[in-house]
Amino acid sequence: MRLFFALRPKADTRARIARMASECGIDADRLTPAANLHLTLQFLGEVDAVTRIALTRAGGRIRAPAFALTLSRAGLWRRAGVAWLAPATIPAALVRLAHDLHAISTTLGIADEPRPFTPHVTLARRARTPPRLPGEWSIEWQVTDFALVSSRTLAGGADYEVVETWPLATAASD
Ligand code: 2AM
Repeated sequence: MRLFFALRPKADTRARIARMASECGIDADRLTPAANLHLTLQFLGEVDAVTRIALTRAGGRIRAPAFALTLSRAGLWRRAGVAWLAPATIPAALVRLAHDLHAISTTLGIADEPRPFTPHVTLARRARTPPRLPGEWSIEWQVTDFALVSSRTLAGGADYEVVETWPLATAASD
């Protein structure tokens, strides 16, 4: 199965991002369905069942704080055809979480991530124009958990299924 660690917005945040994506004039073949919106923390690729179990154990050992992301930047990676939304600033807690998950994948001998960590939410694929954010548009995303997600490629697009979710520590849960 193909797996990745990701942040997934809760329903209200997801709905606001999806509404903006559908209204901001992206010329693309495929808008990301609202249910699929996420921020990839660590792509893992194809893994066997033993590795999946090791990943779920290791994910459960992560101790990291909750944090907020202000999504307010958007753009287009023209060659990849990816229209994206990204945080204005990247909190240290996000970098640390991605780093810890990267360490898990290297410890388990999963192929190293060739791309540097560029946190973003993919709004559309096979996109030809960047999203035009309405003036001053931004969204505050309270990140309180992270997930291990499996991905299948279907004719109509990707089908994601959450394998497991772990909470991040909030002041209340400390
Ligand atoms: P994305 O983060 O730019 O949207 C599941 O396939 C997720 O992992 C997608 O969000 C996808 O891109 C990301 N992904 C797919 N293949 C990848 C790869 N080879 N390296 C890094 N991330 C990848």
